[in-house]
Amino acid sequence: MERVQKVIAHAGVASRRKAEELMAEGRVKVNGKTVKELGVKVSPSDRIEVDGIPVEREEPVYFLLYKPRGVISAVSDDKGRKVVTDFFEGIKQRIYPVGRLDYDTSGILILTNDGEFANLLMHPSNEIEKVYVAKVKGIPSKESMKTLQRGVVLEDGKTAPAKTKLLSMDKKKQTAIVEISIHEGRNRQVRRMFEAIGHPVLKLKRERYGFLTLQGLSAGDARELTAHEVKQLRALAMRKK
Ligand code: URA
Repeated sequence: MERVQKVIAHAGVASRRKAEELMAEGRVKVNGKTVKELGVKVSPSDRIEVDGIPVEREEPVYFLLYKPRGVISAVSDDKGRKVVTDFFEGIKQRIYPVGRLDYDTSGILILTNDGEFANLLMHPSNEIEKVYVAKVKGIPSKESMKTLQRGVVLEDGKTAPAKTKLLSMDKKKQTAIVEISIHEGRNRQVRRMFEAIGHPVLKLKRERYGFLTLQGLSAGDARELTAHEVKQLRALAMRKK
Protein backbone atom coordinates (compact mmCIF):
# COMPACT_ATOMS: atom_id res chain seq x y z
CA MET A 1 0.00 0.00 0.00
CA GLU A 2 1.30 3.43 -0.92
CA ARG A 3 0.07 6.96 -0.46
CA VAL A 4 -1.86 8.36 -3.40
CA GLN A 5 0.52 11.32 -3.86
CA LYS A 6 3.49 8.95 -3.99
CA VAL A 7 1.91 6.84 -6.71
CA ILE A 8 1.10 9.95 -8.75
CA ALA A 9 4.68 11.19 -8.37
CA HIS A 10 6.11 7.77 -9.24
CA ALA A 11 4.07 7.65 -12.40
CA GLY A 12 5.72 10.92 -13.44
CA VAL A 13 2.45 12.91 -13.49
CA ALA A 14 3.58 15.55 -10.97
CA SER A 15 5.99 15.99 -8.08
CA ARG A 16 4.80 14.70 -4.73
CA ARG A 17 4.19 18.25 -3.51
CA LYS A 18 2.23 19.15 -6.66
CA ALA A 19 0.27 15.90 -6.34
CA GLU A 20 -0.75 16.96 -2.83
CA GLU A 21 -1.96 20.26 -4.23
CA LEU A 22 -3.93 18.45 -6.94
CA MET A 23 -5.55 16.33 -4.22
CA ALA A 24 -6.39 19.36 -2.08
CA GLU A 25 -7.96 20.97 -5.15
CA GLY A 26 -10.23 17.92 -5.56
CA ARG A 27 -8.72 16.90 -8.90
CA VAL A 28 -7.75 13.37 -7.82
CA LYS A 29 -10.08 10.38 -7.75
CA VAL A 30 -9.53 6.87 -6.43
CA ASN A 31 -11.92 4.27 -7.83
CA GLY A 32 -14.17 7.06 -9.01
CA LYS A 33 -14.31 8.93 -5.69
CA THR A 34 -12.60 12.27 -5.05
CA VAL A 35 -9.86 11.93 -2.44
CA LYS A 36 -8.58 15.03 -0.68
CA GLU A 37 -6.97 13.52 2.42
CA LEU A 38 -3.21 13.11 2.08
CA GLY A 39 -3.04 10.00 4.27
CA VAL A 40 -5.09 7.74 1.99
CA LYS A 41 -3.23 4.66 0.79
CA VAL A 42 -3.90 2.61 -2.31
CA SER A 43 -3.02 -0.86 -3.51
CA PRO A 44 -1.87 -1.74 -7.04
CA SER A 45 -5.44 -2.66 -8.02
CA ASP A 46 -6.89 0.76 -7.12
CA ARG A 47 -7.67 3.07 -10.03
CA ILE A 48 -6.31 6.60 -9.71
CA GLU A 49 -7.32 9.50 -11.95
CA VAL A 50 -6.04 13.07 -12.18
CA ASP A 51 -8.47 15.43 -13.90
CA GLY A 52 -10.31 12.35 -15.15
CA ILE A 53 -7.19 10.88 -16.79
CA PRO A 54 -6.09 7.47 -15.47
CA VAL A 55 -2.64 7.38 -13.89
CA GLU A 56 -0.57 4.64 -15.52
CA ARG A 57 1.35 2.99 -12.74
CA GLU A 58 4.89 1.86 -13.36
CA GLU A 59 5.12 -1.89 -13.34
CA PRO A 60 7.67 -3.10 -10.80
CA VAL A 61 10.97 -4.30 -12.25
CA TYR A 62 13.91 -6.01 -10.56
CA PHE A 63 17.50 -6.29 -11.77
CA LEU A 64 20.79 -7.67 -10.66
CA LEU A 65 23.90 -5.72 -11.71
CA TYR A 66 27.50 -6.85 -11.52
CA LYS A 67 28.73 -3.44 -10.48
CA PRO A 68 32.25 -2.72 -11.66
CA ARG A 69 34.70 -0.75 -9.52
CA GLY A 70 34.71 2.99 -10.15
CA VAL A 71 30.94 3.42 -10.28
CA ILE A 72 28.72 5.25 -7.80
CA SER A 73 25.71 3.49 -6.26
CA ALA A 74 23.33 6.31 -7.09
CA VAL A 75 21.01 7.46 -9.88
CA SER A 76 22.97 10.64 -10.61
CA ASP A 77 26.21 12.33 -9.65
CA ASP A 78 26.86 16.05 -9.59
CA LYS A 79 30.50 15.47 -10.53
CA GLY A 80 29.51 13.55 -13.65
CA ARG A 81 30.98 10.23 -12.52
CA LYS A 82 29.53 6.97 -13.76
CA VAL A 83 26.49 5.78 -11.77
CA VAL A 84 24.86 2.36 -11.56
CA THR A 85 21.79 3.39 -13.55
CA ASP A 86 24.05 4.19 -16.54
CA PHE A 87 23.99 0.43 -17.15
CA PHE A 88 20.21 0.53 -17.72
CA GLU A 89 19.79 3.15 -20.39
CA GLY A 90 17.09 1.25 -22.27
CA ILE A 91 14.92 0.85 -19.16
CA LYS A 92 12.08 3.35 -18.90
CA GLN A 93 11.20 2.63 -15.28
CA ARG A 94 12.89 4.78 -12.66
CA ILE A 95 15.01 2.24 -10.83
CA TYR A 96 17.44 2.83 -7.98
CA PRO A 97 19.91 0.66 -6.07
CA VAL A 98 18.90 -1.36 -3.01
CA GLY A 99 21.57 -0.22 -0.56
CA ARG A 100 25.04 0.70 -1.69
CA LEU A 101 28.39 -0.63 -2.69
CA ASP A 102 31.34 1.75 -2.35
CA TYR A 103 32.74 3.44 -5.44
CA ASP A 104 35.70 1.03 -5.39
CA THR A 105 33.75 -2.11 -4.50
CA SER A 106 32.55 -4.42 -7.25
CA GLY A 107 29.90 -7.12 -7.18
CA ILE A 108 26.22 -7.83 -6.75
CA LEU A 109 23.79 -4.96 -6.54
CA ILE A 110 20.01 -5.17 -6.86
CA LEU A 111 18.11 -2.33 -8.53
CA THR A 112 14.36 -1.88 -8.56
CA ASN A 113 11.57 0.69 -8.67
CA ASP A 114 9.66 -1.22 -5.96
CA GLY A 115 10.15 0.81 -2.78
CA GLU A 116 8.46 -1.67 -0.53
CA PHE A 117 10.69 -4.49 -1.76
CA ALA A 118 13.81 -2.32 -1.36
CA ASN A 119 12.87 -1.42 2.21
CA LEU A 120 12.18 -5.03 3.05
CA LEU A 121 15.62 -6.15 1.84
CA MET A 122 17.44 -3.28 3.53
CA HIS A 123 15.77 -3.55 6.91
CA PRO A 124 18.51 -4.59 9.37
CA SER A 125 16.26 -7.03 11.21
CA ASN A 126 15.78 -9.06 8.02
CA GLU A 127 19.40 -10.19 8.14
CA ILE A 128 20.11 -11.11 4.54
CA GLU A 129 23.54 -12.67 4.28
CA LYS A 130 26.06 -10.92 2.05
CA VAL A 131 29.31 -12.61 1.17
CA TYR A 132 32.36 -10.52 0.29
CA VAL A 133 35.80 -11.47 -0.92
CA ALA A 134 38.48 -9.06 0.26
CA LYS A 135 42.11 -8.76 -0.67
CA VAL A 136 43.78 -7.37 2.42
CA LYS A 137 47.16 -6.01 3.35
CA GLY A 138 49.17 -8.44 5.49
CA ILE A 139 48.17 -11.90 6.54
CA PRO A 140 45.57 -11.96 9.30
CA SER A 141 46.36 -14.29 12.20
CA LYS A 142 43.89 -16.86 13.47
CA GLU A 143 43.29 -14.56 16.42
CA SER A 144 42.45 -11.59 14.13
CA MET A 145 40.04 -13.77 12.18
CA LYS A 146 38.40 -14.79 15.47
CA THR A 147 37.98 -11.12 16.34
CA LEU A 148 36.04 -10.61 13.10
CA GLN A 149 33.97 -13.69 13.86
CA ARG A 150 33.07 -12.50 17.34
CA GLY A 151 32.36 -8.94 16.19
CA VAL A 152 34.62 -5.91 16.24
CA VAL A 153 34.00 -2.61 17.94
CA LEU A 154 33.61 0.16 15.38
CA GLU A 155 32.76 3.80 16.07
CA ASP A 156 29.06 3.00 15.48
CA GLY A 157 29.08 -0.01 17.80
CA LYS A 158 30.09 -3.66 17.80
CA THR A 159 29.43 -5.60 14.63
CA ALA A 160 27.34 -8.77 14.67
CA PRO A 161 29.29 -12.03 14.44
CA ALA A 162 30.71 -12.66 10.96
CA LYS A 163 31.78 -15.83 9.20
CA THR A 164 35.29 -15.72 7.76
CA LYS A 165 37.51 -17.97 5.70
CA LEU A 166 41.13 -17.40 4.72
CA LEU A 167 41.08 -18.37 1.04
CA SER A 168 44.72 -17.79 0.14
CA MET A 169 47.79 -15.82 1.04
CA ASP A 170 50.80 -14.41 -0.74
CA LYS A 171 53.69 -14.44 1.69
CA LYS A 172 56.02 -12.60 -0.69
CA LYS A 173 53.61 -9.75 -1.34
CA GLN A 174 52.19 -9.94 2.19
CA THR A 175 48.57 -9.98 1.12
CA ALA A 176 45.69 -12.37 1.77
CA ILE A 177 42.34 -13.16 0.24
CA VAL A 178 39.59 -13.51 2.83
CA GLU A 179 35.93 -14.41 2.46
CA ILE A 180 33.65 -12.69 4.95
CA SER A 181 29.88 -13.08 5.41
CA ILE A 182 27.90 -10.42 7.20
CA HIS A 183 24.22 -9.57 7.39
CA GLU A 184 24.39 -5.97 8.51
CA GLY A 185 24.71 -3.17 5.99
CA ARG A 186 26.56 -0.34 7.68
CA ASN A 187 28.47 2.20 5.67
CA ARG A 188 31.87 0.82 4.52
CA GLN A 189 31.41 -1.96 7.05
CA VAL A 190 33.76 -4.60 5.64
CA ARG A 191 36.54 -2.06 5.04
CA ARG A 192 36.16 -0.72 8.57
CA MET A 193 36.14 -4.22 10.08
CA PHE A 194 39.42 -5.13 8.41
CA GLU A 195 40.91 -1.77 9.30
CA ALA A 196 39.99 -2.44 12.92
CA ILE A 197 42.10 -5.62 12.93
CA GLY A 198 45.02 -3.87 11.20
CA HIS A 199 44.58 -5.36 7.71
CA PRO A 200 43.25 -2.67 5.39
CA VAL A 201 41.26 -3.80 2.36
CA LEU A 202 43.01 -3.41 -0.98
CA LYS A 203 40.20 -4.78 -3.13
CA LEU A 204 36.62 -5.73 -2.33
CA LYS A 205 33.92 -7.64 -4.16
CA ARG A 206 30.43 -8.71 -3.09
CA GLU A 207 30.03 -12.23 -4.40
CA ARG A 208 26.71 -13.24 -2.93
CA TYR A 209 23.50 -11.59 -1.76
CA GLY A 210 21.28 -14.13 -0.02
CA PHE A 211 21.18 -16.92 -2.61
CA LEU A 212 22.03 -14.67 -5.57
CA THR A 213 25.47 -14.98 -7.12
CA LEU A 214 27.29 -13.39 -10.06
CA GLN A 215 27.24 -16.62 -12.02
CA GLY A 216 27.35 -16.05 -15.78
CA LEU A 217 27.92 -12.29 -15.48
CA SER A 218 30.97 -10.13 -16.15
CA ALA A 219 31.57 -6.72 -14.58
CA GLY A 220 29.08 -4.27 -16.06
CA ASP A 221 26.53 -6.96 -16.99
CA ALA A 222 22.99 -6.89 -15.67
CA ARG A 223 20.06 -9.27 -15.84
CA GLU A 224 16.46 -9.18 -14.76
CA LEU A 225 15.66 -11.20 -11.65
CA THR A 226 13.15 -13.96 -12.35
CA ALA A 227 9.73 -13.74 -10.72
CA HIS A 228 10.75 -16.75 -8.66
CA GLU A 229 13.94 -15.08 -7.40
CA VAL A 230 11.95 -12.00 -6.38
CA LYS A 231 9.54 -14.23 -4.49
CA GLN A 232 12.40 -16.10 -2.84
CA LEU A 233 14.08 -12.85 -1.77
CA ARG A 234 10.81 -11.65 -0.23
CA ALA A 235 10.45 -14.94 1.62
CA LEU A 236 14.07 -14.77 2.79
CA ALA A 237 13.62 -11.26 4.18
CA MET A 238 10.34 -12.14 5.88
CA ARG A 239 11.38 -15.47 7.35
CA LYS A 240 10.98 -15.98 11.08
CA LYS A 241 14.26 -15.89 12.94
N1 URA B 1 31.40 -3.04 3.01
C1 URA B 1 32.27 -2.13 2.53
O1 URA B 1 33.22 -1.76 3.21
N2 URA B 1 32.06 -1.65 1.30
C2 URA B 1 31.06 -2.02 0.51
O2 URA B 1 30.93 -1.54 -0.61
C3 URA B 1 30.16 -2.98 1.02
C4 URA B 1 30.35 -3.47 2.27
